[in-house]
Amino acid sequence: MSHEVAGCGEANLMKATNKAELMEKLNMGLIPDKEVKRLIRDQLESRIQWIYNHNCEQRFHQLHNLVQSLRHTSLETEDFNTNVYDIPIEFVKLIHGRALKQSGCYFEDKSVTLDDAEKAMLDLYCERAQIKNGDRILDLGCGYGALTIHIAHKYPQCYVTGITDTMSHCKFIEEQCRNRNLNNVEVILGDITKIELNQKFDRVMVIGVFEHIKNYDLLMNKISKWLKEDCLLFVENVCHKNFPYQIKAIFKRR
Ligand SMILES: C[S@@+](CC[C@H](N)C(=O)[O-])C[C@H]1O[C@@H](n2cnc3c(N)ncnc32)[C@H](O)[C@@H]1O
Repeated sequence: MSHEVAGCGEANLMKATNKAELMEKLNMGLIPDKEVKRLIRDQLESRIQWIYNHNCEQRFHQLHNLVQSLRHTSLETEDFNTNVYDIPIEFVKLIHGRALKQSGCYFEDKSVTLDDAEKAMLDLYCERAQIKNGDRILDLGCGYGALTIHIAHKYPQCYVTGITDTMSHCKFIEEQCRNRNLNNVEVILGDITKIELNQKFDRVMVIGVFEHIKNYDLLMNKISKWLKEDCLLFVENVCHKNFPYQIKAIFKRR
C-alpha cells in the first residue's frame, strides 16, 4: 500500500498533528503499512470510546442533538470529501470484486467469492425493490455503476439513469455499456444535493449514499419530486445498529 522513505519514520509521523498533514503524507505514500494499521486501530478505538464513554442520558442527548443539527443544516456533504472516490481505476479493481460494487455484498456462507457476493447482493436489491422489466430506474450516487449495469443487463426493457459526482465513474460506466452493448443506460455527472431532474421514476435506488448527505428532510423532499405515483424508494445505509453518528473522522490531536 505504501513504502517507507528515508527520514520518514514513526517519530515524524507522531508530529503529524492535524488531519490535513496526515492525509498529505498518506497520499504521498510516506506512511508505512504498519503505521496505517496502527492509525486505523487508533481511529476504531476512539470511535468505541466515544460510544461507550457515555451513559444513557448522555447518549440520548447526543441523539437529540444530532437529529436537531441534521434538521438545521444544508443538504451539502460537509466534512467529507467525496473526491476520495476519484481514485485510479487500477487500484479500485484491486480492492473490489468484478462489479466494482462500493457497498455491501451478500456472503451466504464462507465459501462465496467476492464476485459472487457482489452479484448476490445486486440480485437481492432487485428482488426486494420489486424491479420489473419496463421500469424506469434512478440509481443515485451510482459509483462505478455496479447496480446500474446489473439492472440494465438483467432487465433489458428497463431504462436506468445513474447519477454520480465523479467524472471517472461516468467514463467507466459509459465504456462498460459500449462494451456490453447496453443501450438502456444514461449516466449524469452531477451533485445530488444540487441537481434538478425533470424526469420521474418507478424505482429510486440509493445504495451507500445517504451517509454522505446531511439534511434528510431536504433530501427526501427532493427525491419525492422524482417519484412516480406507484414508485418505490430503496435505500441501503451503512450505520451502527445502536449509535447514530456523522460520517467524519474522529481525529485525536496528539
Ligand atoms: C459508498 S459509494 C457507493 C457507490 C454505489 N452506489 C455502489 O454501491 O457501488 C458512495 C457514492 O456516492 C457518491 N456521492 C456521494 N455524495 C454525492 C453527491 N452529493 N452527489 C453525487 N454522488 C455522490 C460517491 O461518488 C460514491 O460513488
